[in-house]
Amino acid sequence: MSDDGVNVGRRRFLTAATSVVGGVGAVGVAVPFVKSWNPSAKAKAAGAPVKFNVSKMEPGQMVTVEWRGKPVYVVRRSDETLQNLEEVTPLLRDPNSEESIQPAYVNPQNRAIKPHLLVLVGLCTHLGCAPMFRPEVGATDLGGDEWLGGFFCPCHGSKYDMAGRVYTGVPAPTNMDVPPYSFEGDDIIVIGVDQEGSA
Ligand code: FES
Repeated sequence: MSDDGVNVGRRRFLTAATSVVGGVGAVGVAVPFVKSWNPSAKAKAAGAPVKFNVSKMEPGQMVTVEWRGKPVYVVRRSDETLQNLEEVTPLLRDPNSEESIQPAYVNPQNRAIKPHLLVLVGLCTHLGCAPMFRPEVGATDLGGDEWLGGFFCPCHGSKYDMAGRVYTGVPAPTNMDVPPYSFEGDDIIVIGVDQEGSA
């Protein structure tokens, strides 16, 4: 083999190695979820719990945390938002969450352990798209005065209130799911571990 042949082969190898490194870097940047406390990727896929510190969240803010490969929405609700949950009840299909998936220890109306902190699986119960967070009261494209903030699924138009409760007259059959979760101290939410004392 000539010297040239060796050099060409080596150049090819270096080019391939550089591309792979570049590819891994790009994937790392594209991951959209918040990095919280982190078990390995394998452990997460198998269902390890995920912790998230809510102490820096402002009222009205939503953060998405990944758990078991699914998006989980964490929302800090304001006093006004909590008041609106009662007002919107006549427009909802299952306001008391009787046919919806949620742990027994969350309140059936506000759907939380602590009313100001909502934790929901961020998947539409129609066909599983990710609903958009639309907290603006009175948004004209979502019903104007009748819209008191919530989640809107862009796939087929399902609407949910600020507790993930589904409106009537939309394709989604039930409220968004509430995952099992608990608190460690005041500010750490542990998604995937039931609140102590529950079944
Ligand atoms: S998947 Fe959300 S409305 Fe169909």
